[in-house]
Amino acid sequence: MPPLTDAPAWAALQAHAAAGLPHLRDLLAEPGRLDRFVLQVGDLRVDATRHLVDDRALELLLELAEQRGVLDRLRATQAGAHVNTTEDRPALHTALRLPRDASLVVDGTDVVPLVHRELDRTLALAERVRSGDWRGASGQRVRTVVNVGIGGSDLGPRMLVDALADHADPDLDVRFVSNVDPDDVADVLATADPASTLVVVVSKSFSTVETLTNAGTLRAWIVDALGEDAVAKHFLAVSTNAERVAAFGIDTSDMLGFWDWVGGRYSVSSAVGLSLAVAIGGDGFRALLDGMRLVDEHAVTAPPERNAALLLGLLQLWYGSVLGWQTQAVLPYSARLRRFPAYLQQLEMESNGKRVTLDGGAVGTDTGAIVWGEPGTDGQHAFFQLLHQGTRVVPADLLGFVEPEHDLGDHHDQLLANLLAQAQALALGRGADEVRAAGVAEELVPHRTFPGNRPSTLLLAARRDPHVLGQLVALYEQKVAVLAALWGTNAYDQWGVELGKQLAGDLVPLLTGDEPDLSQLDPATAAAVRHVRAARGRA
Ligand code: F6P
Repeated sequence: MPPLTDAPAWAALQAHAAAGLPHLRDLLAEPGRLDRFVLQVGDLRVDATRHLVDDRALELLLELAEQRGVLDRLRATQAGAHVNTTEDRPALHTALRLPRDASLVVDGTDVVPLVHRELDRTLALAERVRSGDWRGASGQRVRTVVNVGIGGSDLGPRMLVDALADHADPDLDVRFVSNVDPDDVADVLATADPASTLVVVVSKSFSTVETLTNAGTLRAWIVDALGEDAVAKHFLAVSTNAERVAAFGIDTSDMLGFWDWVGGRYSVSSAVGLSLAVAIGGDGFRALLDGMRLVDEHAVTAPPERNAALLLGLLQLWYGSVLGWQTQAVLPYSARLRRFPAYLQQLEMESNGKRVTLDGGAVGTDTGAIVWGEPGTDGQHAFFQLLHQGTRVVPADLLGFVEPEHDLGDHHDQLLANLLAQAQALALGRGADEVRAAGVAEELVPHRTFPGNRPSTLLLAARRDPHVLGQLVALYEQKVAVLAALWGTNAYDQWGVELGKQLAGDLVPLLTGDEPDLSQLDPATAAAVRHVRAARGRA
């Protein structure tokens, strides 16, 4: 495929951007803007009216999508094409959400029966834990579930367990250990009771050092307290690699599997979601999958001008690749979505943090945005100053849920008012004349002026439940796919994480061994190793 920069619409977009756009105040006043820029997908109201695109920019962006074959690419992905070219496999997380009576033959195998067999096993196991049928070695029911995993084997389930806390069984404490930092696992060791703890080790490869280190520490803790035979009753594995699970010493009879065509960061709808299923139950988990499927279908069937995944992808391309704005803020107005930005960091930055196209050539433009954020209203009292009056423009996703989970006084209306106010303030700002008219002293006018013209998406979801959260997650997944199709990159590999892993492995013996040879290290790393060794009393 030729580079994005060769597409005819690319040059037209450059020229259009160079000519300058009206202020958002004027764009918002255009007749019909709401009709064109507010899209409804299931329970999600996607309001893109406050984006710095006029009708011509939108037209050119849609032309670009057409010229890059974006929707065809999404359809091919969902049909099982080997879009993960560097690993020669499909990226079929969408198959995890297909209904039982569907069929999807990939490389000669119908994957739908496989998916439903594993889904049934996952939910049955979750139900055994929830009902108390699953007992520990000393006969106690499970009170604490510890999900041990990292990256995609942690962030999705963790984010959703937090987000759906109000739909979870209050008698079960579902916890997460991901970091190899001993402080992470130490918290579990200090506070959980081994007799009522079930450890779920989640690792696609079952070779991730952090996960195996944490799982080993928890295994020793269980064995110390309850004996070697207790392991089968206190450890479950979710992986694609049964051999490594067995070699680690976990019984594979209750092991839950998935497939190499499910990428880690796209895996929460597979058995990787076991801890989530334990928290919210089978009905909740199935509602999540239904919500995802709704958006998966929307992304490949909605007409381009009503396609929310396409629009969000095109807007991100406009800001990042055409206008050169580097970051994207994600600001959920929901304290329970505190891990959503972290979840999106992996989804977006591991998928689209790429510099070469599928055939290895340079992309020729900036690619994946630097994604960051915190829940509002906390963020307002921290970094929103920069969003409103700093020198950089940061496009923002502002998210909120219309219905409260806890209807306490006016809390929720205050929360929503803040959400709407921020979208308004970012877009409209407050001009110097208005500030003067409010009686502000002349020397303070520049300090109290807001330029506005700062774009945002206002995403209002009906309520915070599994079905809606499934839609939200799938919308971002599909946006990521749209962007990769535009750039011609692979959203499903992550070679960029390998170098650091390998170097860390090489450094462990240099930190811990006797009189290691540091002569092959660069001077800065050698000095740091000597510093750590000396501080830890090693010669
Ligand atoms: O850090 C890279 C990565 O491979 C992620 O893509 C993945 O989600 C994470 O590590 C965990 O991998 P695994 O599930 O194989 O332990």
